[in-house]
Amino acid sequence: MKLGCCYFPEHWPEDKWADDARRMREMGLSLVRIGEFAWSRIEPEPDRFDWGWLDRAIGTLADAGLSIMLCTPTATPPKWLVDRMPDMVAIDEAGRPRGFGSRRHYCFSHQGYRAESRRITNALAERYGEHPAIAAWQTDNEYGCHDTVLSFSEAAAVRFREWLARRYTTIDALNTAWGNAFWSMEYRAFDVIDPPNLTVTEANPAHWLDYRRFASDEVVGFNRKQVEILRAHSPGRDITHNFMGFFTEFDHHDVGRDLDVATWDSYPLGFLEQYWFSDDEKRDYLRQGHPDIAAFHHDLYRGCAKGRWGIIEQQPGPVNWARFNPAPLDGMVALWTLEAMAHGAEFTSYFRWRQAPFAQEQMHAGLLRPDSSEAEAAPEVREAARIIAEIGPQETAQAPVALVFSYEAAWVCGIQPQGQSFRYLELVYEWYSALRRRGVDVDIVSPGADLSAYKAVFIPTLPIVPDAFAQKLSALACPVLIGPRSGSKTDSFSISDGLPPGELRDAIPLTVTRVESLRHGMVEAGEDWTISRWREDVTSDLPPELALEDGRGVVFAKDTIRYCAAWPDRALLDLLVARIGEEAALELMDLPEGLRIRRTATNLFAFNYSAKPVRFGLTGDMIDPAGVSITALTR
Ligand code: GAL
Repeated sequence: MKLGCCYFPEHWPEDKWADDARRMREMGLSLVRIGEFAWSRIEPEPDRFDWGWLDRAIGTLADAGLSIMLCTPTATPPKWLVDRMPDMVAIDEAGRPRGFGSRRHYCFSHQGYRAESRRITNALAERYGEHPAIAAWQTDNEYGCHDTVLSFSEAAAVRFREWLARRYTTIDALNTAWGNAFWSMEYRAFDVIDPPNLTVTEANPAHWLDYRRFASDEVVGFNRKQVEILRAHSPGRDITHNFMGFFTEFDHHDVGRDLDVATWDSYPLGFLEQYWFSDDEKRDYLRQGHPDIAAFHHDLYRGCAKGRWGIIEQQPGPVNWARFNPAPLDGMVALWTLEAMAHGAEFTSYFRWRQAPFAQEQMHAGLLRPDSSEAEAAPEVREAARIIAEIGPQETAQAPVALVFSYEAAWVCGIQPQGQSFRYLELVYEWYSALRRRGVDVDIVSPGADLSAYKAVFIPTLPIVPDAFAQKLSALACPVLIGPRSGSKTDSFSISDGLPPGELRDAIPLTVTRVESLRHGMVEAGEDWTISRWREDVTSDLPPELALEDGRGVVFAKDTIRYCAAWPDRALLDLLVARIGEEAALELMDLPEGLRIRRTATNLFAFNYSAKPVRFGLTGDMIDPAGVSITALTR
């Protein structure tokens, strides 16, 4: 695994560049990402390109022996471009234009901006495509950051209508699919349909789901155009895009199909603070991040571009964008780095080389402070580099368990949650954590993935069952656990024929006759576990495998397939993992709180995320807080 950093030569005097490059090499870095926000410096005025500084920056970095990932700068269209084309900005859900003065202000559907995106990509690719130091390209930066996938602009409305016409062919088909007889919502033509914002109360969920599908396709199409240009001019270079954490606004499997390598931006402390974690977890893991945050995304994005992935932005210290921004525990930056390696990353690159003294991110740490002295992370990066060299390249081992992840499922749960606390990402994360607490390695895969190589398959929920998925499950010989709401909706967001679980009924013969959501704090008890948030009434000839104290069934099983008709608590998940683990002959471990493990083909890595030293039973090692133990596998 290579180490690298994100560097902004345009932020620093040119006479610093050579010394920066030398110091990067000395710290153990070999990859540097540049250019993602540099449009106003590359093209200060329409059609006047200033390549001189970028030529020299690339030359300086290359002379130091660094390989370069160059980015297209389309996340930051310059002021002159917005002034020339004011309607290129995205429109938010409340109908307001997203103004100039930060970033990501463009609308994915604006044809004029799309042409500009192709033009600047082409200019960069023609100039640097065959440069020997350019090893890779990144398209744009973090599609969707700052809530920018959905735009409710006129440009988006026009493209949405075209998308709908392609999908449904006739307006009658759309009216039927959406159920527009309800509330007199019928349309007489595609070209009178608007985006689903600004309605009096909620818009039709089928309308929303198609808008989300359309918006996701717009991101895919925008990205694909850049990829095609880069491929044509820069043969043999990898192309990536940097995905975000806990982010489901577009289908990353679809974007990933056009990439060579998936990358993601790992900010464990910011994510702990910003997401659903309990106050106790936020306290216990304040300076480490919850132990599954980084691994969850490693395993998710490894499934997006044929197994190739890396971290292009790794948190090196406090960030600036969460509600509170603590500093990592000493050792965490090295731990996060080695954990990425254990999950198969090709590189880990830190954001950023030097903390900026100006503008929006001046409170965001780098590997260097603004005065160029080394920040706390720098010695940890050196230490990580030393260990990486010592243990040598690691081959990714086949994980025994697949966890099925669907972006469409996230949209369905978000559009009509029915209970505020039914959050897709949280459900999937809970199931993932239950496996990781027992030391199981997991591949997070798309519903389309080949599942035949796994010893067990977990599907936290899949409301819309894709074609042939039910047959695929029935053909598996291994245990399968299917979660609540699976099979509950048709492709056009109606209740499945014959009631849920619709097409999954062949695999698991039961019928969900009623569902209820439970407010925060309300639980229903089983023997030594509970369910909360969501519960389904089920009729079936199958006797329940697990039931609530009053006899209502929660888990039903037929042969190798189980269905869980509620939101399980940790104890129920643990019980199910234990049962399935035994049936599937998984190697289950009892790990101390905060310890996580991951195997490569040759080594077993253990990571201590807790703030206390813990003993790792398998080796007998005491592992310090933020410590890592690496053991050669003898199998
Ligand atoms: C990322 C983004 C970077 C920088 C970073 C700060 O979301 O890609 O440009 O803003 O966050 O943590």
